[in-house]
Amino acid sequence: MKRYSRITGTGSYLPPRRVTNADLVAELAARGIETSDEWIVERTGIAARHFAGDGVFSSDLGLEAAKRALQAAGRKPRDIDLIIVATSTPDMVFPSTACILQNKLGANGGAAFDVQAVCSGFVYALTIADAMIRTGGASRALVIGAEVFSRILDFNDRTTCVLFGDGAGAVVLEASATPGILASDLHADGKHVDILCVPGHVSGGAVMGNPLLKMDGPAVFKLAVGVLEDAARATLVKAQLTEADIDWMIPHQANIRIMQSTAKRLKLSMNKVVVTVDQHGNTSAASIPLALDVAVRSGKVNRGETLLLEGVGGGFTWGAVLLNL
Ligand code: UT7
Repeated sequence: MKRYSRITGTGSYLPPRRVTNADLVAELAARGIETSDEWIVERTGIAARHFAGDGVFSSDLGLEAAKRALQAAGRKPRDIDLIIVATSTPDMVFPSTACILQNKLGANGGAAFDVQAVCSGFVYALTIADAMIRTGGASRALVIGAEVFSRILDFNDRTTCVLFGDGAGAVVLEASATPGILASDLHADGKHVDILCVPGHVSGGAVMGNPLLKMDGPAVFKLAVGVLEDAARATLVKAQLTEADIDWMIPHQANIRIMQSTAKRLKLSMNKVVVTVDQHGNTSAASIPLALDVAVRSGKVNRGETLLLEGVGGGFTWGAVLLNL
C-alpha cells in the first residue's frame, strides 16, 4: 500500500502583548523615528502585531502551538516521533529549538531538528517531514514555525521594524493511506543573501557585526511576486491540477500587496486567499501555520479542501506545498 502524509491537526499561539500601529508609532516617535498608521496600512496591510515578553523564546511559543495541534489531532506527546521547528530566531546557537521544545513537551526520543530557511522555513519543514513519513523514517510529526523576530528588529530603522511580529503555528502530520501532501516545490538562490539578512555572528564570546535585521524591501518585493507564481504553477503541474482546483491559497504573510499580486497572476480571487497579516504582521516561518490554524478554527478552511501554501524569504528562498486537508 502506498504511504502518504496528511495533516491531522493544527494549532497556533500568539504572545499576549498586542501592539497596534498607533502604539508603535508612539513608541517610535519617542525615539525620533517618524512613521504613521496610514503608511503602514497602505504599504503593507498591517494593523497590529504581537511581541513576546522578556524571557519568552521561540520554543515557548512553539510549545503552545504544538500542544494545540496535538489536541486537535487527538494525539499525545508520546505519539510523536519527529519534531521539525522552522525558525530564524532560535533559543540558542545550539542545541536546536526543536530539541528544547521536545523536552518541554515531553515527547523525548524521536528525531528533532531545526530548519533555517527564514520565511520559507515552514514549507521547507513540511516538505522534509512529508518525505520522511512517505519513506518510513517517521510516522507522526510535529511541524512547527516559531519566531521572536522582535528580538532582531532595529527599532531605529522604520523601513523594517514596523513589519514584523512574534508567534508560532504547528501542524501534526501523520502517515496516511490517502494523500494529504500532493506536491511541493522548493528553491533558493544564494546570490541574493544581502537583500534580507541578519549579518552578525558570534566569535570569541562576542557578537561581531550587526545582529539586527536589514532588508532591501523593494528588491525582496520584486523577486517575491515572480517566484511565488512559479512555485505555485510547479506544484500544480506535479499534482496534475490547475488553478481552478485551489480552494484556498495560504501565502506567507509579509505584505498584502504581494498576496494580491500573486493571486492576480494565478487568476485567484482574493476571496480564496487567507489573510492574517493585518493582525499578525510578518511572523516569518510562523506566518503560514498561524494563518492556516486561524482559518481552520474560524471554520473558513475545511477538511477535504485543496490548499496552496507558499513561502518566500531570506536566502533568497521560496517554495510551495499543495495539499489536501
Ligand atoms: O518576509 C520576507 C519577505 N519580505 C517581504 O516580502 C517584504 C517585501 N517588501 C515590502 O513589503 C515593501 O517593499 C516594504 C513594505 C518593505 C516597503 O514598501 P515600498 O512600497 O517598497 O516602499 P519603499 O521602500 O519604496 O519606500 C517608499 C517611501 C520611502 O520614502 P521616499 O524615499 O519615497 O521619500 C521610504 O523612506 O516610504 C518611506 N518609508 C516609510 N515612511 C513612513 C519607508 N518605511 C516607512 C515607514 N513609515 N515605516
